[in-house]
Amino acid sequence: MLRLAPSRGLLGRVKPLRAAALPRHFPSLPVFALYPRRNQSSNSVPSSSSSVASSSSPSTSTSSYTVQNRSYHRDDWSNAPPVILSKIGRNLHLTPNHPISILRGIIESHFAEHTSVTPSTPIVSVYQNFDELGFAPDHPGRSLTDSYYLNREHMLRTHTSAHEVETYRSGLDAWLLSADVYRRDEIDSSHYPVFHQMEGTQVWPTTSLHELQKRNAELAKQLADCPLVIEDPTTISDSNPYQASHDPEHAAQITQHLKHSLNGLIFRLFGHTTQDGEPLKVRWIEAFFPFTTPSYEVEVWWNGEWLELLGCGVVMQKTLDQAGVSHKSGWAFGLGLERIAMVLFSIPDIRLFWSTDSRFLSQFREGEITTFKPYSRYPPCYKDMSFWVSPKQQAAVAASGSGTARVESRASAWERESGDNGGKEAGVSTAGGLEPSATTATTTTPVGGKDKAFHENDYCEIVREVAGDLVETVTLIDEFTHPKTGRQSKAYRINYRSMDRSLSNEEVNALHAQVQDRLVADMGIEIR
Ligand code: DAH
Repeated sequence: MLRLAPSRGLLGRVKPLRAAALPRHFPSLPVFALYPRRNQSSNSVPSSSSSVASSSSPSTSTSSYTVQNRSYHRDDWSNAPPVILSKIGRNLHLTPNHPISILRGIIESHFAEHTSVTPSTPIVSVYQNFDELGFAPDHPGRSLTDSYYLNREHMLRTHTSAHEVETYRSGLDAWLLSADVYRRDEIDSSHYPVFHQMEGTQVWPTTSLHELQKRNAELAKQLADCPLVIEDPTTISDSNPYQASHDPEHAAQITQHLKHSLNGLIFRLFGHTTQDGEPLKVRWIEAFFPFTTPSYEVEVWWNGEWLELLGCGVVMQKTLDQAGVSHKSGWAFGLGLERIAMVLFSIPDIRLFWSTDSRFLSQFREGEITTFKPYSRYPPCYKDMSFWVSPKQQAAVAASGSGTARVESRASAWERESGDNGGKEAGVSTAGGLEPSATTATTTTPVGGKDKAFHENDYCEIVREVAGDLVETVTLIDEFTHPKTGRQSKAYRINYRSMDRSLSNEEVNALHAQVQDRLVADMGIEIR
């Protein structure tokens, strides 16, 4: 079975957990809640822009979006669909007794001196999300296939780091900011276009950095008492340097404090999961982020494999300068709450977090990490879809000079950017880097237009718009190019499953037909 985007190390995203990595009690048939379904055609609009929308009912028209009572004009860059905007305000990270909120609370109580911060809206400027943090103008994460835009100036944040500058500007020195983040993606048990991250940071006035040495010695002593093995082969080098403007002694103390703090947090979260007196194993890896140096990723040895938990580093002085606090220095980290919660609570499918079923929600209690007990198993029903890619889409690929490489995931592209690619060349984003196709402005969801190169994320998004959370996985099972005509064929297997009832074959057939019709209409595919 072909899988072009099998796993991603993207920070904050959940790496697909291999079956072997799941504890035995993981059900083979995951359960999940029904998604509010919207069966819109690409040109229809749910309500007019003049309607007053509540924060939980965003609206779109051909000319504007209304989200949280604010109107955003639409332009040729708009690609945020209503089904995604409808998630704004769910705030799983603030929902009492919800695993995401429980995990947030545990981390907050671990960092007791940090202030908890909750941004009021997930809508940020493109500048905040990318430019202010030093992301290159052609960074793949900016592409229309990877991120959700309201227009050329505003987008749904793709990471909590988008709030770093404004939070430093507020004068806080130690804070934890949790929020929902949005990224266009494929569909499987560990990827969902909305998920939650926590950004944590601590900065000090340069004049007090000399105090860190003593604090670090205390933290090192506390950690030495924990059954914890820390693998840390990282060094400071030209590829992961201290900042030129930093006193190397200060930078070393900040880095040390970062490492001690995060090792302590990881022990707090995972320390109880080791068995037979085995110490917990944590591994530090050198990384690259545009807004930190030195930078690291941290992994924990869990159920026989390394699980990537977070990214972190010493905050770029430029970021603090922009926030008007040039006299401070410190560290920051960003972690994905779903990825950690899935492991700690043994939650097998990321869609479960969105369940409103009391059989899910009633299982969890504030402050406690407990094992999820599956409450229902309904059979999956899969349907295959074989099609020819539209000639125009194929021409768009050919014109860009990239074939199947364009189907690669955003994650791998982001990883490349962060130096994880072993020196491979940077890919071209399907949306054509910063420029959208001129033809994309006319439909509700411009992405996946008939004249643009085929992208799996566009395909998945249309499937999700029609089938909602009834779709469990979308997997590429075959692809080939016809030897004579040169036409490209693809076959996807769409797996449908409901958490609270058995889906009849007729019902799935009808749903699949709707999905197919939308894909034909929006992407110009030709069913084979
Ligand atoms: N924002 C990064 C991401 O989503 C994660 C991250 C990395 C946050 C390093 C940080 C950091 O604060 O220092 O991939």
